[in-house]
Parts: sequence; C-alpha cells; structure tokens
Amino acid sequence: MSNLYLVGIGPGSGKYLTKEAEDVVNSSEIVIGSKRALKLFPDMKAEKIELNAQNMGEMLKLAVSKAADNNKVALLSTGDPGFSGLLKPIQKIKGNLDLEVVPGISSIQLCASKLQIPWDEANIITMHGKGFSSSLLPLLSNGRPTIILPNTTINETVNYLMEKGIEPNRAVAVCENLSYENEKVVKAKLEELLAEKFGYMCVLVVY
Ligand SMILES: C[S@@+](CC[C@H](N)C(=O)[O-])C[C@H]1O[C@@H](n2cnc3c(N)ncnc32)[C@H](O)[C@@H]1O
Repeated sequence: MSNLYLVGIGPGSGKYLTKEAEDVVNSSEIVIGSKRALKLFPDMKAEKIELNAQNMGEMLKLAVSKAADNNKVALLSTGDPGFSGLLKPIQKIKGNLDLEVVPGISSIQLCASKLQIPWDEANIITMHGKGFSSSLLPLLSNGRPTIILPNTTINETVNYLMEKGIEPNRAVAVCENLSYENEKVVKAKLEELLAEKFGYMCVLVVY
C-alpha cells in the first residue's frame, strides 16, 4: 500500500475538486502544497507544509522521506499532476516507494470546455518552464486548434509566434484564471493580444 499520494487539485476553485482528492487529503497526516492549493482544504487536520517555486526540490524530497518513514503524505499538484505537473519530478526521486496518483481536472480540459473544443482533435502542448520549443511551430499548420500552456507570459508567446511567421490576424483565444471569480476568456486575433494585460495563469489557444 502506498503512503505517498500525488493529488490533482484541479484548476483552482473548490467546485472542481474531486471527492477522491478531498478524501485522500483529509485522511493524510502531512499535506504539502502551494498556498493556494492548501487553502482548498479548510477542514484538514494534517500538518501543512507550504511549497513554492524556490523550495520545490527540497519539498519533494521531504514528501518522499516522510512517506518512507510511514506517514501518509499528500502532495498537491495543480490541475492534473500528469500534465506539466509534479508527476515527472516525483518519479525521478521516489526510488522504490509506491506512489498513487489522484487525477485532477487540468486547466487544458477546462479551457477546452469553455471554448467547446473537442480535445481529441486538438494539439496539446506545454511550454511551461521549458522555453520555446521548435516542435510547436509545425503543429500550428496541421489544421487543428493548438492548446498551449505558455512558458511565461502571453505577451512573450505572441511576440515569439509573430517572429516565427505566424500571421498577426490568426484567430486565438486566452483563458485566464479559469474557475476563479476573475476568470476571463478573450477571443481575438493574435496581434490584438498584445494590447491586453494577462497574468501568469493563462491557457492560449491558436486556431
Ligand atoms: C505548472 S503548470 C501546471 C498545469 C497543471 N498541471 C494543469 O493540468 O493544469 C502551471 C500553468 O498551468 C496553467 N494554469 C493552471 N491553472 C490555471 C487556471 N486556473 N487558469 C488558467 N491557466 C491555468 C497556467 O498556464 C500556469 O502557468
């Protein structure tokens, strides 16, 4: 039986949290997650440990060592852990320890729902934390909508795409802060996005 649970918490709002995620977290002894992830579980009795971009590596090692010491540990990952989430880094360090993954609703899925894109017919790619990849460009000419997690900002991504020859009037959409009260969905032409201000939590679609 596993002591280490990697729990997808969905796009952010408690409305999109699964019952399984709640049950696992509420029965754990130690819960490790970002501030916004921990806030989703007001009733938990567990020891809470905050994870952020600076202490990520250290916290993942802590999750593994606490689970190896026989504590039930829940590690929270936004969206789904398997898409640009904590699954890959935890697999690299967990050694022989059993791991159970609880899926969550990805920002990609919620974006596809908002824009009514059947995502079995879309290109799906993440550039988050990776920088621009040349594998993106051929996808943009295969006739399918492309759903992208940007590397940093929408602005930087738009400039990159236009430099690489994507037409400024190409139809695009941005889904920002999905599931939160300040959720925003903008449908526009590529170059028009430069006139908008977007934060960090965005999914970009290039049609
Ligand atoms: C580290 S990745 C995690 C992705 C996550 N595993 C998922 O399945 O959605 C973080 C990026 O996901 C996207 N993201 C996560 N939550 C979001 C939300 N509520 N609204 C829009 N984009 C979101 C943003 O592009 C953000 O920079």
